[in-house]
Formats: sequence, structure tokens, C-alpha cells
Amino acid sequence: MTVRIAVIVGTRPEIIKMAPVYRRLVSNGAFDVSLVSTGQHREMSRQAFSAFDISPSTELDLMTDGQTLGLFASRALGSLSRFLEDSKPDVVLVQGDTTTTLAASLAAFYLKIRVGHVEAGMRTGNIYSPWPEEMNRRLTAPLSSWHFVPVERNRDHLVKEGIPADRCFLTGNTVLDSLLWMRDKLAQQPTDRIGLLKRLKATPEFLDRYLIERSAPLILVTGHRRESHGQGVQNLCVAIKQLVTQFPDLGVLFPVHPNPQVRNVVHQHLANFDRVVLSEPLDYGDFVWVMDRCYAIISDSGGIQGEAISLNKPVLVTRDTTEYPEAVECGGCQLVGTESSTIFSVAAKLLTDQTDYQRRSSVQNPYGDGNSSVKIAEILERELTSA
Ligand code: UD1
Ligand code: UDP
Repeated sequence: MTVRIAVIVGTRPEIIKMAPVYRRLVSNGAFDVSLVSTGQHREMSRQAFSAFDISPSTELDLMTDGQTLGLFASRALGSLSRFLEDSKPDVVLVQGDTTTTLAASLAAFYLKIRVGHVEAGMRTGNIYSPWPEEMNRRLTAPLSSWHFVPVERNRDHLVKEGIPADRCFLTGNTVLDSLLWMRDKLAQQPTDRIGLLKRLKATPEFLDRYLIERSAPLILVTGHRRESHGQGVQNLCVAIKQLVTQFPDLGVLFPVHPNPQVRNVVHQHLANFDRVVLSEPLDYGDFVWVMDRCYAIISDSGGIQGEAISLNKPVLVTRDTTEYPEAVECGGCQLVGTESSTIFSVAAKLLTDQTDYQRRSSVQNPYGDGNSSVKIAEILERELTSA
């Protein structure tokens, strides 16, 4: 009998990192695969699905503006429980550490459906950083039967928490699969200058100078972590203002996360600030294109830490902890916290000290070779279809 797998996602990073797994499972032919979205993110989910030319077979459309953790979790648990009761898949696959990840794992557990966890075992050791993601991924672990770990260290974390070592499968991080796939796709296309101008909300001069001719340095910025809402986001904006004031050649592109806690503060501080472009969240293709062309990145994103070091772009991580310690150890990423003076001084050093810049932009990526989804599909085939 064909094994039925429900791949459940809800946010932009889950879709980006799960898309190659979903596509590989479908092409494998051994499974009946469905793609389910909670719609925890609305516009950003649509963008991410379309970047990979896929669409969910079931869209639960659960996002509300300014949703709270508890209320979204309860809605997701209810809707996913009903979906799983009706569709009865044999296996549920989840990714990462979002509310969707935890709600899907718990809903599956209540129905005794086995769970596979992609990007398992990443830890910072602090349940409030990132919050609530560190707790979401810890709670997902005991609910799962297969743990697909990016690096050995992730297996060690899980074993310490009582997960059997032989249930942890070393696969690398699927973020590399997505990144390399998109980079190849972009390499085969001409630059869509008119489209980029519209989507980046940049002037032709800004686009040419910072991204096409690249005659001056561009810093790409993102930020969304809940623990930085309020003062952290404000401090980031202050640091950006100081940087563009101090460095008259510098450009900044900031695709702003739609969470009102981020969007309102960023627009209040940085709208109409010279050489700072605020855009909507970018399509994954545009974002990879910009990452590949920028000078450096300031971000609190998890996934971007993995991607940027593969593109040889230094990242100032505006957090106190990271679940990507390898990216810091190899020198590509640096934790800078959320004080504006530290963000400013570390970025200023990167802009002025070429030895420092060279060291941090030529590192070995520890997260795999872009074949993680192939490995995950092979493991599931072996585990689920052999007699
Ligand atoms: C969520 C995840 C976080 C992940 C991040 C990626 C949790 C608790 N948080 O955080 O782990 O790193 O996504 O971006 O699971 N919004 C829109 N349109 C969208 C998406 C969001 O308007 O397409 C706005 C809505 O007002 C929404 C708010 O952003 O209520 C917050 O979304 P939510 O998914 O709860 O939190 P994120 O901060 O996006
Ligand atoms: N990303 C994107 N468009 C943007 C910003 C980010 O496609 O405007 C991609 C980025 O390349 C990475 C993922 O979204 O793959 C990271 O998402 P996010 O920072 O929202 O979540 P996190 O990684 O922190 O969970």
C-alpha cells in the first residue's frame, strides 16, 4: 500500500526549507504526498510557495492580523486535528520551530500519526531566545519518530534530551538545497530590471549603484524576532541611521516584515531616510539575488545565517544566541545583540577593515551540499516502504 505523507507548513521559512523535501518526495513516486498550509503567514506563504512553483493541496488560511501565540496555537491545533482526522495520513512531516510545527506535531501525536521533524535538534540552550522557537523545537522532539539533523551537534542535543541516537539522521540543512536551487534558477534568467525596481521600491540610481554596478556597499537588513519587538527594533533603526550618516557611500535595503510590531516602528524611524530603501518582503528569488550582491547582512533570521555564509556574506546577527553556532564558529556570522552602539561599531569595522571583511566572507559552509532533501526522501523510503 502507498504510504501517505502530509507535509505541513505555515510560515515563509518552513515553506522555503520544506519545498525541496516536498518536491523530492513527490518525484520519488513511493509516496502519496499532500502539502498542507496552516496559513500562519498569508502573503509571505503565497510568495514562498510561488517561488518554488508549488501550491498547497489544503490551505487552512488561519492567519489573523497581530495574532498572539496562544490563540494562533489553539486555532492551528483545532484545524489541523480536524484535517488529520479526516485525511488520516500515515506520516506527518514538519519543519523547524514555529507554532505551526508544534501544533502539527501535537495534533498528529493525539491521533497516533508518526511525525518526521526536518531541521531537528537545533538549540540555543535558552528557552527565551529565540522565543518561543527554542521551546517549540524542544517540544516537537519527543513528539517525533524521525529527527533529520543538519549537523552532528544537533544529534548530541537530542540524545541528551533522551531521543535515541538511531532515530536521528544526519542530512545537512535543506536551506542549502533551496538556496542552491534558486541560485541556479537565477543564473539562467536575465536580470528583470523593471520588475526589480518595482518590487524593491528603489530608484533606478539606487538599483544601479548598489545592486547592478555595485560601485558602493549595500547592507541588507531584516528583523522580526519577538524578543526584539519594542526596544530592539528601535535600536536597530538607530544603528542604521548612524551607519548611513557616518558612511556617505553606504546604501541600506530593508525588506520589512509585515508584523505590525516591526513594520510600524521601522517605517516610523526610517521612511524617507536618505539611502535607506524599505521594501515589502521580497520574493525568495529576489532576496537570494540581493543576498548574492550585497556587501553584508544585518539580520536576526535563523535561515539567513545558513544561507549567507554559503554566499560568502558576513552576517551581523542581532540576537544574543544562535541555533547556528557553526556559522559563528567559522567566522561568517557574529552575534551583536540589539544595542545600537554594538551594531554600529561591528558594521563600521566590516566597512572599513578589509582584512576583517575578507576573513569573514570566505568561510566553509558547514550545513551540507544541497542534497539534504534527497537524503531525507531516501531515509523515509527505507524506513517506510521496506517490509
Ligand atoms: C513567525 C514564527 C517565527 C519565524 C517567522 C518567520 C512563530 C511563533 N513565529 O514569526 O518562528 O521565524 O514567522 O518570518 O511561529 N503577517 C502578515 N502577513 C504575513 C505574515 C505575517 O501580515 O504573510 C503579520 C500578521 O499581522 C501576523 C503577524 O505578522 O499576525 C505575526 O505573524 P506570526 O507568524 O505570528 O509571527 P512572525 O513574527 O511572523
Ligand atoms: N527571505 C525572503 N524574503 C525576504 C526576507 C527573507 O525570501 O524579504 C527568506 C530568506 O532567504 C530565508 C527565509 O526567508 O530563506 C528566512 O525567513 P525569516 O527570516 O522570516 O525566518 P527565520 O529564518 O528567522 O525563521
